[in-house]
Amino acid sequence: MPLVIRSRTLIILIVVITFLYVFWPREHRQQQCPPIRVENELNSELGPLIDAVRSTIITDNKGNQKVYLNAKGYITFLSVLRKQHHTMVHKLVKSAEWALGNNSVYSVTLKPQLPPSGDPHDYMSLGRYYWPDPTKPDGLPYIRKDGYPNPEFFSINDYLYLRKMFREVQNLGFAYFFTYEEKYVEKAMARLKEWFLDEKTKMNPNLNYAGYRKGEAFGWKAGVLDFHQVFRILQVIPLLRNSHLWDPEIEIGLKTWMTEYYSWLTTSTIGRAEGKSVNNHGTFYDVQALFLLDYLNRYDEAKTFVLQALQNRINDGILPTGQQHYETDRPTSWFYSVFNLQGLFLLAERADHYGVDGWHYEGPSGQSIKKAVDFLLPYALNDGKGWPVKNIKGFEMNDYVKLLELSYIIYGDDKYLEAIEELRPKTKAEQAVGSKMAHWEDNYLCNIALLSNRLLWTCLNKKMFILTVLRDTIHIQPYDFHKPKYEALTDEINRIYANKVIQEIGLCICLFDILSASEEVVHYGNGASYANVTFRLVVFRPFIGEILEGTVSSNTAEGVKVTLGYFDDILIPTNQDDKWKFDHETQVWVRLWDNIIPEEEWESVEDKYLYMYMDKDLPIRFRVIDEKFTDVGTKGPPPKRTGMKTSSSSTILSNKLIIPFNNTKQVPYELIGSIAERGLGATVWNWS
Ligand SMILES: *[C@@H]1O[C@H](CO)[C@@H](O)[C@H](O)[C@H]1NC(C)=O
Ligand SMILES: *[C@@H]1O[C@H](CO)[C@@H](O)[C@H](O)[C@H]1NC(C)=O
Ligand SMILES: *[C@@H]1O[C@H](CO)[C@@H](O)[C@H](O)[C@H]1NC(C)=O
Repeated sequence: MPLVIRSRTLIILIVVITFLYVFWPREHRQQQCPPIRVENELNSELGPLIDAVRSTIITDNKGNQKVYLNAKGYITFLSVLRKQHHTMVHKLVKSAEWALGNNSVYSVTLKPQLPPSGDPHDYMSLGRYYWPDPTKPDGLPYIRKDGYPNPEFFSINDYLYLRKMFREVQNLGFAYFFTYEEKYVEKAMARLKEWFLDEKTKMNPNLNYAGYRKGEAFGWKAGVLDFHQVFRILQVIPLLRNSHLWDPEIEIGLKTWMTEYYSWLTTSTIGRAEGKSVNNHGTFYDVQALFLLDYLNRYDEAKTFVLQALQNRINDGILPTGQQHYETDRPTSWFYSVFNLQGLFLLAERADHYGVDGWHYEGPSGQSIKKAVDFLLPYALNDGKGWPVKNIKGFEMNDYVKLLELSYIIYGDDKYLEAIEELRPKTKAEQAVGSKMAHWEDNYLCNIALLSNRLLWTCLNKKMFILTVLRDTIHIQPYDFHKPKYEALTDEINRIYANKVIQEIGLCICLFDILSASEEVVHYGNGASYANVTFRLVVFRPFIGEILEGTVSSNTAEGVKVTLGYFDDILIPTNQDDKWKFDHETQVWVRLWDNIIPEEEWESVEDKYLYMYMDKDLPIRFRVIDEKFTDVGTKGPPPKRTGMKTSSSSTILSNKLIIPFNNTKQVPYELIGSIAERGLGATVWNWS
């Protein structure tokens, strides 16, 4: 069956996941992006992040300030993700194997106690913080003791099964995506059928008895939170659809179920009451509703909803100081402050999905998600000392540090990095204890890591790298037949394109993702098989006027050559103005700058200028003022490709040359730079 993109969600998921798969060549040129494989050796260290000078604010030609992400930060960041990816996939496969090995039934019908409706298919869970009323002989109805969970909660297993099902289906779905093992699909389908569709075991699409307090007729609104992790399964269903085992009947059944459930969520008394909650319950209600709307293809409603949700939750739930006051009113104030933030991050991610910037949204008094992150920071760094409110449950850092990792990606503030480094030992200790929480967290990280890569791309998108869509007929060589299809295609596409210049497009770095691939057709002549593939490449193509940082690689007759590490063909010509002199003694170019010291204070005429020596390896900042594509007419196969399309420039590219990127005399792609502005040139230069 051909792999066809069926929904926007799938595209986004594939983007982020494939991005994890395919990375930048770590050394310089002539390297292909190696496909990432699961490695047994685990390394969950964050890596040399401190070194990453992530971004610089520069001023463009029109005088606008712009945050620019430099290559060093980019590369460092990718290497971090790569490490996290290895860890993640390894854990994922392990969890999927666990899920696979469990043949017990997970069902709401197994509970020993019937809900008041008498229908075992009605989901039921007990109010977590509710206890018998000591003033009543039978203890009924139960009363609230916030922060003190009643162990009776575990006497009904619906909640445990529900969460287990969500988590396991998600693990199976992601594991399928990374390994292409159909056994995971089969199991995921079985779990979904068991939970939602099979007459014997299914759950009714309502939460009428969730959060049930003994002695009452119905459940309680807070129980709606039980279902918020439905996003786990909704995230992986688009991945599962790629399998030929995926049964469309399940999809039909699920859509019906989710439609009914969404209707219950938004119209029932209990559902609506939860939606009106002002604290984390409200936030996660919104998250739940948004994922459901997306699954049901109700995008317009979702967009309206997300805008409103951001306003509600941020304007009301966060104080101008960043304190989330509804959470800090609780006895377990630290836990809930972090928990609500997780919800807000998911909300912002949903917003991002619909082109709305929730990360930078500010309420009327400047309330924002960032402020809420920052509010917690000093206490996190100080073991909770000085925390202004009651907190009976300690200061766990694991979840908060994950939010800091995301915050660093989103906001680019180095203080988050420093905090992550400092808190790392604490999170490791927490993970080592291996609490239930930490297990839950691994899965959370999995989502969040995926989200974060999408965000990373959002940052990079407008910078010196572009994504280009190409369609090409890719040959899978017979010796690659043993590989899973996407892996073989990935290898081949990287082999053909990585480190090559496509005329008028730029230097291809590596495959970003595969959007679609036709059925392979075997060519009987040579045994290779062919597939028509549409894919995206990461391409280095800074815009004219962009400021980049590199280092001086050599001084030549034409000027100063600069390298970015992965791209060397940058020339700063020295004939542009008369401020360049060649110093014959050191054999380097010298840039002269007018000295701002008044003439009467000079000691000699030499003080008229400041002298910037273009020594080899000097870090240098320059503006791209021109680019040159040269058809160097290589003989290498395949010289000509037709019918390629690029979406980034919206033109049909036919007969464009793909040129191996090689440092011969004639270069296929060259950038011309200039440092003729104050602030450019040697980055170590003290301009004052
Ligand atoms: C399967 O899951 C159920 C429900 O959580 C659990 O009781 C049982 O021990 C698990 N079985 C295996 C083999 O892990
Ligand atoms: C690829 O596309 C071309 C042109 O659309 C078509 O002729 C060819 O049969 C396709 N090949 C495969 C393997 O689908
Ligand atoms: C790069 O150029 C060198 C020197 O011209 C040549 O020997 C080498 O084969 C070229 N490499 C590729 C991959 O074309």
